[in-house]
Formats: sequence, C-alpha cells, structure tokens
Amino acid sequence: MTRKLSGFMVVLLLGCGTADEAEEITPEAQAEALRAARADSVAQATDMFDPTVFDTLTWDNDNARWERGGVVWSFTCQRCHGADGAGKGPDAETFDIAVPDMTVADWAYAGDVPGIRERIFVGHDSEMPSMGLIGLSYSDVDAAAHYIDDLLRSTE
Ligand code: HEC
Repeated sequence: MTRKLSGFMVVLLLGCGTADEAEEITPEAQAEALRAARADSVAQATDMFDPTVFDTLTWDNDNARWERGGVVWSFTCQRCHGADGAGKGPDAETFDIAVPDMTVADWAYAGDVPGIRERIFVGHDSEMPSMGLIGLSYSDVDAAAHYIDDLLRSTE
C-alpha cells in the first residue's frame, strides 16, 4: 500500500470488496474505465446502426411525431440537455457534464436530421449515452431528432 487510507475510507471501501481490490480503484482509474466502457458502447452501437430503418417509418402527420418527440425529450434527454436544448439540464449541473447548446445559430447539426439521428443512436464516449444500444427505438430516435431540429431550434 503506497498511500495511507484513513480508517473511515477503509471501512467504506471494505464494503465494496477486499482492501486490496479497493486500493486499485482510484478516481483516475475509474474515469478511465468508464470512458473505455463508453467507447465500447459507441463502437457496438455504430455496428448496430442501420439508417435505412428510418425509410420504413411512417407517422400519421408531423404533429404526431413532434408530440412523441416531446415525450422522449422530457423523459430521456432534458435531464442533461435542458427543456430548451441549451445544455443546462439538472444532471448537467449536478454531475458537471459539459453538454453542448443545440440552440446556437451555428450548431454543427443544424438541418441535418440524419446526422442528429445517428448521434442519438450511437452516442458519444464523453457522456452522451448510446441510446440505440440501451433500447431507444428507431421511431423514438426519429421523433427526438425532429423535435430538436423542427421545434427546439425554431424558437431561437
Ligand atoms: C447523461 C446526459 C445526457 C443524456 C441523458 C442525453 N444526452 Fe445528448 N449529449 C450529452 C453530451 C455530454 C453530449 C456531447 C457529446 C460530445 O462530447 O460530443 C451530447 C450530445 C448530443 C447530441 C450532439 C450535439 C452536439 O452539438 O454535438 C445530440 C443530437 C444529442 N446529444 C441528443 C440527445 C437526445 C435526443 C437525448 C435523449 C434521447 C440525449 N441526447 C440524452 C449528454 C446527454
């Protein structure tokens, strides 16, 4: 043991395993492991992603898609991205996650629904979850992409 742990820490860490195991879990190692796990998820989701599925989707009308997109947004996205898409959702604040502002005029994905869908499905190895991998359906990905590009951005 190169570092002396306080008695309190040892008790805490012993709860998670042996002292030897616990000793290896430094915050840096944990961050690195998380990042590697996310990169692996992104790679898996990239393999799974099939953009031709979007051609087979049908919606009754634009309103039906926007309505569904609003539901997906409020339950799944706004905790990080904020209700308005500006990136200041409660989890972004609490966990200090850097979430981009999607409402800026020069947003990289402006008008690029196929690109937005892919980003949602595949995620990113920073903090954006691989939504396709964790079960968000293609139709919900499509609805969320349109909700962002048609509604959140049109209120600039
Ligand atoms: C745990 C927090 C979190 C959740 C939940 C989340 N996102 Fe993200 N999202 C991020 C972060 C962080 C990024 C920036 C990734 C990067 O570093 O490029 C991001 C990036 C994006 C981007 C690309 C934006 C850009 O400017 O690069 C899109 C599109 C997006 N998210 C859509 C969504 C949608 C739609 C949902 C819900 C289905 C969602 N996100 C849920 C954290 C989150």
